Amino acid sequence: MIKIAPSILSADFSRLGEEVERLESEGADWIHVDVMDGMFVPNITIGPAVIEAIRPWTSLPLDVHLMIASPERYIKQFADAGADLITIHVEATEDIDNTIQLIHSLGKKAGLSLNPETPFSRVEPYLNFIDLLLVMTVHPGFGGQSFMPIGLSKISSARKTFDLLGSNAELEVDGGINRSTGKQCIDAGATVLAAGSALFGCPNMREEMELWRNMR
Ligand code: DX5
Ligand code: ZN
Repeated sequence: MIKIAPSILSADFSRLGEEVERLESEGADWIHVDVMDGMFVPNITIGPAVIEAIRPWTSLPLDVHLMIASPERYIKQFADAGADLITIHVEATEDIDNTIQLIHSLGKKAGLSLNPETPFSRVEPYLNFIDLLLVMTVHPGFGGQSFMPIGLSKISSARKTFDLLGSNAELEVDGGINRSTGKQCIDAGATVLAAGSALFGCPNMREEMELWRNMR
């Protein structure tokens, strides 16, 4: 079953609690939370305090995508704030192994992400140790960008590796996802679609998510 993870980057930030509650009632599977530090990416969004504030508004897993430099500095704060899945970028730290271990030691699921220009080989050594691979199909930093097809071959490669390992890690794609690009990612082996603008911009989010879930 395909999971849909709406990104609250496209939500109304003045009423995030209600927005998250609405996503759950519309049938979202996860809530995708984009954390940006103005260093790793050229934008600043939200931090642990906001995650703590939205936590009581939903029982869905909070899928926290850390686009921050040296994420090991803040893992405990995001875990304490109520994140369920914590994804770090392979480009953001020298200390991938220890950071994955730290996430696990706090009882959370660990994800690893890679930027469009980063080769698949950079994440390969870690695939046996993670719960989620997040393939970026835009340059991280902003919602509303166009899908970059370069991610599709990475999804296929990851699908093959996870199958060979017998891993049931999730394979998520993020950036420019809509009906058509989402279908391409599912065909390549993705299991989770993160999307902001395409979902928040459509008149009936519930129907749209249902359609995406059944595109396989
Ligand atoms: C981009 C973020 C994405 C973003 C996706 O840096 O990681 O999660 O919200 O937005 P859309 O779906 O509009 O490309
Ligand atoms: Zn994201």
